[in-house]
Amino acid sequence: MKPADYRLESSWNPGGGPHGAFTFTLFNLSGAALSGFKLVYTSLTRVIDATACANATFLRRNANFHEFEPPAGLTLAAGESWTFTVAGLHRPARHCTDGAKSAYLTLSSGKHVPVAVSDLLLEGRVSEPPPVLLPEGRLDLPFALQPWPAEIDAKPGDSFPVILYPEGASADELSAISTCISLTRRLFESDHSVFNLVTSPQGRALTFNKDASLDAEAYRLTFSADRVTLSYSSSAGRQYGLTSLAQMLNGARVSQGKFRFPVSGTISDHPRYSWRGCHLDVSRQFYPVDDVKRLIDILAWFKFNIFHWHLTDDEAWRLEIKAYPQLTTTGVLRGPDEPLLPQLGNGAEPVDGFYSQDDVRDIVAHASSLHVEVVPEIDIPGHNAATLVALPELTDGQEAPESYHSVQGYPNNALNPAVPLTYEFLEKVFDEMVELFPSSYIHIGGDEVANGSWLASPLARKLMAEEGISGTFGLQSYFLKQVKTMLDKRGRKLAGWNEVAHGGGVAAKDSLLMAWENPQVGIELAEQGYDVVMTPGQAYYLDMVQAEAFQEPGASWAGTVPPAHSYAYEAAGEFPEELKHKLKGVQACIWSEHFLSRGYFNRLVFPRLPAIAEAAWTPKASKDWDRFAAIVTLSPKL
Ligand code: ACM
Repeated sequence: MKPADYRLESSWNPGGGPHGAFTFTLFNLSGAALSGFKLVYTSLTRVIDATACANATFLRRNANFHEFEPPAGLTLAAGESWTFTVAGLHRPARHCTDGAKSAYLTLSSGKHVPVAVSDLLLEGRVSEPPPVLLPEGRLDLPFALQPWPAEIDAKPGDSFPVILYPEGASADELSAISTCISLTRRLFESDHSVFNLVTSPQGRALTFNKDASLDAEAYRLTFSADRVTLSYSSSAGRQYGLTSLAQMLNGARVSQGKFRFPVSGTISDHPRYSWRGCHLDVSRQFYPVDDVKRLIDILAWFKFNIFHWHLTDDEAWRLEIKAYPQLTTTGVLRGPDEPLLPQLGNGAEPVDGFYSQDDVRDIVAHASSLHVEVVPEIDIPGHNAATLVALPELTDGQEAPESYHSVQGYPNNALNPAVPLTYEFLEKVFDEMVELFPSSYIHIGGDEVANGSWLASPLARKLMAEEGISGTFGLQSYFLKQVKTMLDKRGRKLAGWNEVAHGGGVAAKDSLLMAWENPQVGIELAEQGYDVVMTPGQAYYLDMVQAEAFQEPGASWAGTVPPAHSYAYEAAGEFPEELKHKLKGVQACIWSEHFLSRGYFNRLVFPRLPAIAEAAWTPKASKDWDRFAAIVTLSPKL
C-alpha cells in the first residue's frame, strides 16, 4: 500500500465555542509543494455557522460533507502543514469518532486525491485506561449455551462424544442436520464438525422424536450416556435443538477446561418473545451479500428469527427496482463529482453498491433455510435524499430549496404526500417487493420526518387546504394511511418506527411499531392499540458507545450503552400487565454511520448482539450476566 501523501490531524477543544471547536492540521507528506487546493472532510459533528472558522474559508456543507479552502496563495512545501480552526458546531464532540471520518483534496486540476485521517483527540486529555466491558464471568453449569435455555436440568459428562450421529432419522431430519453442519462450519471454519450423517462408533447417537404437544419454536433434549433425544413439533424447534447441541459440543471441544457436554438430564426450551430481531442499516455503509449472509448465520446461531433489512436511507437506495433503475445507479453512487456527495467516511474515490433482485432472492432463501425471516424496510416518507436525487420528478418543483432540514442535516429529504407520482412510485416499488420478500410485514420506516417538512410546498399547501389537514404530521398520517392501504391490498402488514403514530397515525390493526426513541413510547403505542417491538436506543442501538471515555468509539446521542446494560434491560419492565400481550419482542439495531470497517463492526456489535439474543429468548428469572459473560467469548464474529 502506498504511504499517504497527505494526512489530516484533528483535535477538539471544549472551550473553543458554544459547542467547542475543532483544530485541523493538514500535513503535506507528498514530497512536492501543494497549492491551489480545497479540502473536504466528512464528520457527524456538523458545522452550522460558516463564519466561525479561522485561517480557512468554509465553502459548503451537505449533511456531513464539509468543504474548505485555505487562505489565498497558501503553498505547503514538502513536510509543511496548514492549521485552521472551526467552531460553530451543531453539538459538542464527545468521542474520538466525532471528528473527520475521511478527507480528500481537490486540486486546481479538478483531480481528487486521498487524505489519511487520524482519530479526533481531546485537547487537554488525560490518559484513560480502556474500560472493562465484560467481567471474566462465572458458570454454575458448564454448558456453552447462548441464549440460555428456559429450563435445564442436565449433568455434565467427564468426556464428550467425538461426534453426534443420527439414528433412524427421516430424510427431512437428515437434511436439518446437514444444514446445521454447514452453519457451524461457516461460523467456525477451523473447528471439528459436531455432527456426522454416518454412524460413528466413537460418537453418540441422536434420535428424533416428533412431539405435537411442543410449540413450533420449542424443543426438548434428553441426554443419556449413549444417546441424545431431540423432541420437536416443527422445523424451527428442531433447528434450535440442533443448534444447542452444536453450541455445547463445540464449546466443550474448544474450551475443555470450562465447558462440558451433558451425560444425563434434560433441556426443555422455548423462546420468551416471538419477535427476536436484528436490524442492519446497509444504506449508510454497503455490506456485500456474503457479509449479510454471515450476519444471518450469526443471528441463527443465537436463535434470532427476524432480520430487519434497512435498505434505503438518505445516503443510498440499495434495493434494485426494475421499474426505476435510477434508484440503484444515481441513487447509490456517492463521489466528489456525483449528485450524491461523499458522506460518512467516503473519500476521493466514488463508492456505490446495491442488491440485485437475484442477490435478494439468494439472501432471503439463505435466511429462510435458517428460520430467519427477512423483513425489508424502505424508509419513507423521510430519509429520502438519495431517492429524490435519483428521481427528481418526485419533488414539487415549486417548493423552496432548503425549506427544511432533517436531524441529520439533509435539506428537503422527504417524499411529498401531495405529489401524485409519489403514490405511483410506491405502488410499483411494493409490487416488486412483495415478489421478492415473503415476510408477513413490510417495514415502511416513518421516522424522523422534520417538523416543517412540506410546508413550503405549494402542492402540499393545496392538499392541506382541500383535505383540512394541519401541519407536517397531519400530512404524514394522510400519506401513511395510503401506504397502509397499499400493503393491505397486497396482503402484508405494516411495520414502522414509533413516529408512524404521529399526527393520527395509521389503523392499529395489523400494524407493528418499533419503539426506538425511549422505552416509554412503547407503552404509549401499546395503549393506542399497536403491536410493539422494543428497540430503545438507550439499550439496543449497537452504534452507541459502550463507555464514557472520549477514546471510546461510537455515537452517543442516546447515551452510553455498556454491554451489561443491553443485557439487563427489561423491555417488559414497565409494561402494565394488561398491555403485555402487545409487546411482541425486542430487536437490536445496527446503524452504520460510524461503521467504517469490519474491526469496528465487531467491536461494537459484540458482545451486545448476543446479549440481546439472550434478552429475547431467556426467561427473566434465568438471566445471569456473569454466566453470559463466561460463555460469550465463544461468539462468532462477522
Ligand atoms: C431511527 O433511529 N431513526 C429509527
